[in-house]
Amino acid sequence: MLESAIPEHLRKERKCPVSTPPNYNPPFPGYCARFPKKMENLVLAIIGAQYPAGTDDNRTGISTIKNFMTDIPENVRPSSWETASVTDKRGFFNIAVFAYWPSTEIHKEWEVESGFEAWWKSSDRESEVHGWFKEVLCPSVDRFETVFSNHEHPEGAANMQEKISGEMREHAYWGSMRDRFAAAQDDKLVGESWNTRGGTHKSGNESKRVRVPGKKNLTIIRSGQDWSDTLPEERKLYLETMHPVLISGMNFLRDSGQDVGCYSMNLWDVVDSKTHEASLERTFGLGYFDDLTSLEYWSKSHQTHINIFGGFLMYAKKLDNVLSLRLFHEIYVLEQSQQSLEIFGLQ
Ligand code: HEM
Repeated sequence: MLESAIPEHLRKERKCPVSTPPNYNPPFPGYCARFPKKMENLVLAIIGAQYPAGTDDNRTGISTIKNFMTDIPENVRPSSWETASVTDKRGFFNIAVFAYWPSTEIHKEWEVESGFEAWWKSSDRESEVHGWFKEVLCPSVDRFETVFSNHEHPEGAANMQEKISGEMREHAYWGSMRDRFAAAQDDKLVGESWNTRGGTHKSGNESKRVRVPGKKNLTIIRSGQDWSDTLPEERKLYLETMHPVLISGMNFLRDSGQDVGCYSMNLWDVVDSKTHEASLERTFGLGYFDDLTSLEYWSKSHQTHINIFGGFLMYAKKLDNVLSLRLFHEIYVLEQSQQSLEIFGLQ
């Protein structure tokens, strides 16, 4: 019996119809996270440092951030966190901690009790040789959705689940992402188109700091790939047929994304949290779109994603749906008040 992606307590009368085909049976299994009923929102904080190419020490900054995740009372620790890095299109090396909390209150307590807030606000930060960035995404649960291919390995926000769903109905057809959003039952979640985006402004007396204003229904995707457990045949299949296409899809969005409503896209490597080596065979695309429709449009019309989507169907069929490749994505459609981005010293 297939389960609905939207849990019962978030269901309401639909004004926006679903796209699920009649008598639909997904071609491969997909799962979502069931959060506790009392959970109203969640937080993903992305806190990182940016270095010019060739900087000798590009580790000290991120080590400090990691200490704020671990050397603190247990009740305010993030539910999970990991470190990832990417060299951006201008050659700057970025490394960040991605950390999750099960409510905005606990995240706030963490900021204060860990000493992070005082440290972040200190003017000492502005005289460091590298830049800093901090993004805090805090969607209400109806503005968040996640889907994953392997129910034994929840990733990201799904680590805060009370349980994993059974096999889910709303997946593997175009439009299923929208059908999984509780908020999309009666709201088209229209964003602000690329051309009307506002500028950035400096905040108060911290003249070097820039706070990027929030945007209505800003849509963010974190789409992950983990091939660390694949055996040689499947690994070859992934690395030869999907990974290169993924890279060209991500490069298109990174370099020409404005043509399709994408503000920013990078393919990050999840790195070893101690050595910072990118040896884990896990990547994720992190992208920012002006509207959920823009993300839908790219995913169903760009040849790279059409190829990896179609390739994945064949891949799953060939392996009888017994896959060691793990895919997940999580998507945020945020109110302006649910996003905060602060940067300084970035190039
Ligand atoms: C959906 C394959 C990477 C964006 C899907 C689905 C598959 C797939 C099979 C259907 C999932 C489901 O509903 O069960 C892949 C593969 C990837 C990959 C094999 C990499 C190897 C990405 C990346 C992005 C992306 C990096 C964007 C950053 C999307 C979106 C959907 C989707 C937006 C939902 C479409 C909708 O429901 O309307 N992808 N994908 N994918 N993928 Fe990917």
